[in-house]
Amino acid sequence: MSGVDIAREAAAKEALKYVRSGYVIGVGTGSTAMVFLRELYKLIINGDVNNVVLVPTSTETEIEVVRLGLANLLRYPWQVDHIDVAVDGADEVDRRKNLIKGGGAALTREKIIDYWAREFVVIVDESKVFDSIPSKHPIPIEVIPFAWTIVKARLEELGGTAELRFGGGKRGACGD
Ligand code: A5P
Repeated sequence: MSGVDIAREAAAKEALKYVRSGYVIGVGTGSTAMVFLRELYKLIINGDVNNVVLVPTSTETEIEVVRLGLANLLRYPWQVDHIDVAVDGADEVDRRKNLIKGGGAALTREKIIDYWAREFVVIVDESKVFDSIPSKHPIPIEVIPFAWTIVKARLEELGGTAELRFGGGKRGACGD
């Protein structure tokens, strides 16, 4: 295992401390969140955590929940009235805990679930931590197709540059 893999696993295991039996759990998107999901799976299968349900932040996460044989635990926002804890990765984090998320294009569903959660736990390895952000990643912005040229022009008026990107990769909201 690489250093990054070890750090991800350690962060994912730490996040398990925020999970309790009976919880509605928001499950994030991306490789780090998947490490958390697989660790959570072990607790569920061993009976260490009971009666939880899982609200996925992307199609990719949903597929992994099904692949693990936990489809009966899947829930969608309209099937629950709250989320106890959401656990998700991030693209960049600064020392004041500001985040860039959405590199995998799951940002719309992530924002809905992560903001709604009573507790939001972000798991990152040290390679994601910067003194100031954005550092390496552009800031993802979701836009409805109808408005994209207007939003791009406005961002450029504000001094930024904007590139249109289509969803893919981690199959976030764009694949739904
Ligand atoms: C998905 O849209 C993102 O917000 C992910 O949480 C972020 O890209 C982190 O992914 P990795 O854990 O794969 O780096």
